Amino acid sequence: MLNIALPKGRLGEKVYAIFAEAGYECPAVLSGSRKLIFENEEKGVRYFWVKPSDVAIYVERGAADLGVAGKDIIEEYEPDVYELLDLCMGKCRMAVAAKKGFRDDPQRTLRAATKFKNIATKYYASKSRDIDIIELNGSIELAPILGLSDVIVDIVETGTTLLENDLQPIEDIMRISARLIANQSAYRFKTSEICAVKNAIDGVIRAKGLSS
Ligand code: PRP
Repeated sequence: MLNIALPKGRLGEKVYAIFAEAGYECPAVLSGSRKLIFENEEKGVRYFWVKPSDVAIYVERGAADLGVAGKDIIEEYEPDVYELLDLCMGKCRMAVAAKKGFRDDPQRTLRAATKFKNIATKYYASKSRDIDIIELNGSIELAPILGLSDVIVDIVETGTTLLENDLQPIEDIMRISARLIANQSAYRFKTSEICAVKNAIDGVIRAKGLSS
């Protein structure tokens, strides 16, 4: 049996549809119940609905053999997992944004509000820019508006949240998409099962023209 952690929410449902099309269906997954674990013994898969930011932890520690996590989470937490495949879904980007008209003063420490402390730290270290990280858990866009920070480091998908809050992207840090990840020892001991899933999913993605 392969244990697979899916990210709860809209992206997770699209991801599950790809697994199902690849031959690993388990229709109860979409039943809308409050249950979190679903199993299809015949197909040899057991799915869990996990908070998206927790998928990498389940996979790293072996509670799940496989999982789907955003590249943002992988870069932020650097879990010891194997990244097997870019699912080419859930595409967005990590960007720096600020109030319109913002000019960076290199003489001053830059105050950056973010949920992604490590990504922001690595990014500004690569530019040798001194920063003061302000860690928030959500509604990051409020920080520059209320003078809590100079910039934010956050995910931009459609750009609507920035636009509606009079902010604008000023630098792109990285592209993000959903990745298939595997537990390292599961990959060694269940190589053929895991590779079969990976190849079947790759086939579906290519057939749909999603691959980059
Ligand atoms: C994410 C992100 C932005 C927004 C970007 O927030 O932190 O606020 O989505 O999407 P857009 O470019 O399509 O507008 P999320 O919905 O996860 O909420 P939270 O970070 O405020 O909890």
